[in-house]
Amino acid sequence: MRMLVGLIPPDDGEVLFKGKSIRKWKSALFEHVGCLIDTPSYYPNLSAYENLAYIQKMVGKPLKEIDRVLHVTGIFKARDKKVKHFSLGMKQRLGLAMALLNDPEVLILDEPTNGLDPEGIHEIRYLLIDLCRQEGKTVFVSSHNLAEMEMMADHIALIDKGRLIYEGALGTLLMTEQYVLRVRQGEKAEQLLEADPQAARLLLAEARETSAKALHELRDLVRGIHPPVLADRGLVDAVRALALDSPLSVEVEAAYSGRLPLPIESAAYFAVSELLSNATKHAEARRVTVALHHSGDRLRITVTDDGRGGADLNEGTGLRGIARRLATFDGTLSLSSPQGGPTTATMEVPCELSSPKISSS
Ligand SMILES: Nc1ncnc2c1ncn2[C@@H]1O[C@H](COP(=O)(O)OP(=O)(O)OP(=O)(O)O)[C@@H](O)[C@H]1O
Ligand SMILES: [Mg+2]
Repeated sequence: MRMLVGLIPPDDGEVLFKGKSIRKWKSALFEHVGCLIDTPSYYPNLSAYENLAYIQKMVGKPLKEIDRVLHVTGIFKARDKKVKHFSLGMKQRLGLAMALLNDPEVLILDEPTNGLDPEGIHEIRYLLIDLCRQEGKTVFVSSHNLAEMEMMADHIALIDKGRLIYEGALGTLLMTEQYVLRVRQGEKAEQLLEADPQAARLLLAEARETSAKALHELRDLVRGIHPPVLADRGLVDAVRALALDSPLSVEVEAAYSGRLPLPIESAAYFAVSELLSNATKHAEARRVTVALHHSGDRLRITVTDDGRGGADLNEGTGLRGIARRLATFDGTLSLSSPQGGPTTATMEVPCELSSPKISSS
């Protein structure tokens, strides 16, 4: 992230922004790019407003911009409070407010939810999603929290020990069971094939080894996103584990045994997890029933809570995310949630059940 904004020089390669090297373009870069890297430094004895005003005066930009960014980041109420009295979360928001000053097209944010409580994480997540969807901004975010990234990003790059091991849509990474690995030395090996077959063979062997290793790491990572219980024991047991973790009283009824394709089990698992967390957060529910059926080549899951109803697909990202993810398998989510409750979410996905494996151990 530091390299992207020119704070440290790259060992190799170049950072291009709109086709131009940022080394030659540094001052213009800051017209277009807002960033939050590490914990920004503030003047503790100045208020939020004064800290931002200081920056605006330095770069010769209008002060009226300040109230806008204070509103956007939800700290307008603390406008005149001294920053030394801010919590970590408030400071993080002030950092974001700085990054948003003067309406940059691109935001580069390093671990933007660091130090925030769950409520704050949720708000920043929305803020970033909104900036992207409503205001057409491009947001680069780095994070160690893969689950958080899953909720926020539509395009990801996975970097493991400094090596880029995946870049592309997150959905693709989670859904496919096949990965295509590009081999850098491929072309060179082909050229060498005639002139020096021995060297070509060595290159290819090396490429094969690196790609096998990368594939292994990628699988591990994907497994890290899925909980092990899901891969090892299947959807029903994984949902039972979710039920045990829930603060509500959750009953799980399963009317099938066997395994479904892992990508579908995974999508269903995350859907149930989101629905349970909605029941906890929004429904004021006490009891939830999760029923899993499989018949006629369809998986059907219903999640019913005895809460107050009023769930709305267009209010947040959770429910829409479920619908989107199921749609990649031609599955559907339907919702019945009248005011006063109860809420029932019904998910259906066409898929084949495979009989349970019999293990010899
Ligand atoms: N079980 C429920 N009972 C009552 N209201 C609900 C329930 N589930 C969702 N809602 C309402 O529907 C809205 C949309 O839910 P959704 O899961 O899409 O977003 P969210 O939970 O607010 O945020 P997130 O994107 O973190 O999931 C919620 O904001 C809430 O008002
Ligand atoms: Mg939700």
